[in-house]
Amino acid sequence: MKTKIQEKFKALFNEEGDLYMSSGRINLIGEHTDYNGGYVFPGAINFGIMAAIKPNGADKVKVFSLDLDEYVEFYLTEESIPEQHWARYIFGVCREIIKRGGKVEGFNAVFAGDVPLGAGLSSSAALESTFAYALNEIFNGGSIEKFELARIGQSTEHNYCGVKCGIMDQFASIFGKEGSLIRLNCKTGEYKYFPFHPKGYRLVLIDTCVKHLLADSAYNKRRESCERAAEAIRKNHPEVEFLSDAKRVWLDEVRGEITEEDFIRAEYVIGEVQRVLDVCDALERDDYETVGEMMYQTHFGLSHLYEVSCEELDFLNKLARKCEVTGSRVMGGGFGGCTINLVKEELYDNFIETAVKQFNEKFGHEPKIYNVVISDGARKL
Ligand code: GLA
Repeated sequence: MKTKIQEKFKALFNEEGDLYMSSGRINLIGEHTDYNGGYVFPGAINFGIMAAIKPNGADKVKVFSLDLDEYVEFYLTEESIPEQHWARYIFGVCREIIKRGGKVEGFNAVFAGDVPLGAGLSSSAALESTFAYALNEIFNGGSIEKFELARIGQSTEHNYCGVKCGIMDQFASIFGKEGSLIRLNCKTGEYKYFPFHPKGYRLVLIDTCVKHLLADSAYNKRRESCERAAEAIRKNHPEVEFLSDAKRVWLDEVRGEITEEDFIRAEYVIGEVQRVLDVCDALERDDYETVGEMMYQTHFGLSHLYEVSCEELDFLNKLARKCEVTGSRVMGGGFGGCTINLVKEELYDNFIETAVKQFNEKFGHEPKIYNVVISDGARKL
């Protein structure tokens, strides 16, 4: 990938660029908790986005996407927003740095990546983080704090891509560390690295290769449900800033005041915040069976209460149970993408073989299998 990027950079701009990269992410548990001020437990992975970048002394950004074979130029002013979806991520990062008083001037860039698109592995966060990290190094002498770099990616999604996402993906992509998952308290920003080397188990993703339409608007609707539930609870308990601050019984108190739909969404979130803590405790005891059981509970909640699963994901989840997989659940925003599975070494081959075969029989195409390695996040190469 490195050579291809540099060759293209040279062909387009007559020199070599400096190389930066950042990663996609997995999340062991803690789904849809980030924008509710709860805990998440992600890690960066060995699939990422790499970019060659160099200032060009002008006021224009010139970017080439190797994977899409597409070239885009834009100015750094608000009106110059590009039409191409992929270029908006880069434009947004530039604008968000500038809005915060940081510096960005014209630059040339060529980038490519191997994060599967639409699989729930946060290819967009990897792209945002690569550029946020690089532009901080190149134009700001690294003076923007790492957490702010993650927020720059998040604001890009909010303001230029229409997704009111939480901070998890960009955080993981920036803060990722080889061999460690990171428990982040999304309310306070406190985080802790947990070395993750489950002896005798493997972590594998199965990609349904489906992405259901309207996922972005459904995502934003989930967020609104949670905000309404939190607001109702806050009337009785003013200390509730985010839904994750609420106790389960406090939710019961307002059952008659909110819609049943908002109620079950909130019920899921409050349960999920607790599960992250339970999983971290279990990990400290090397108790992977409990970790796995919590993953199944999360899947149940995401499927029946939060309603962000789909037929293909539920099918893979049920199959995992049948194959005695320790833990399995839909990962990321939902509505397609991957399941994440914690499976004993000796059961791995049978599980994968069965899943590929039976999924293909039922849905007419094979799922993809990703054996992920927990890796470093944003960096200069
Ligand atoms: C997407 C969002 C994240 C998070 C997850 C669900 O990946 O970008 O902020 O909300 O969905 O946990």
